[in-house]
Amino acid sequence: MTDDTAARLAALIRTIPDFPKPGIQFRDITTLLLDPDGLRLAVETMAAKIAGPIDLVAGIEARGFVFAPALALRLGAGVLLIRKDGKLPGATIAEDYALEYGTDRIAMHADACAPGARVLLVDDLIATGGTARAAVRLIRKAGAVVSEAAFVIDLPDLGGAAALAGDGIAVHALVA
Ligand code: PRP
Ligand code: ADE
Repeated sequence: MTDDTAARLAALIRTIPDFPKPGIQFRDITTLLLDPDGLRLAVETMAAKIAGPIDLVAGIEARGFVFAPALALRLGAGVLLIRKDGKLPGATIAEDYALEYGTDRIAMHADACAPGARVLLVDDLIATGGTARAAVRLIRKAGAVVSEAAFVIDLPDLGGAAALAGDGIAVHALVA
């Protein structure tokens, strides 16, 4: 990935001050998604970084759902939905976590992964890593292996990508 690619993507991401709470600089990818060339560039650049092989791409609700199917189709993988707790119809396992502006609980179907399945975790952004690390705990609890994680945006000052790397995961991001 070139500096030019990162700069083109960064220019399509908008910053909204004080959302959802005072003091948060919210990095808004909806403007990137509206741009056909930007969307393609983001998905193709992310896919090119994945070493693989990957059996399942795990997307984290909500914004991870935008990128997970696009990557899964390119990588020949299925899609695993990691949802906010209370949304999935079958038997679930769940994990609590803290993020930059609150706390939450995510869940996945307990039978979603074959034992040893190789999973790529995907989301739009990693900040504190609370969400991504809870997803990793869930997927590992289900018996699968999280080998890589990919994000459009990394907020490195918040330390999430470094923590995820410390969990033994290869972390990819397009824009810091
Ligand atoms: C955002 C973002 C990541 C998470 C990153 O989601 O899409 O999932 O925060 O923060 P962290 O690294 O500090 O955990 P949010 O919880 O706002 O939910 P949404 O995608 O449903 O808007
Ligand atoms: N999730 C956590 N922190 C965020 C931020 N600053 N912008 C967008 N999504 C986020």
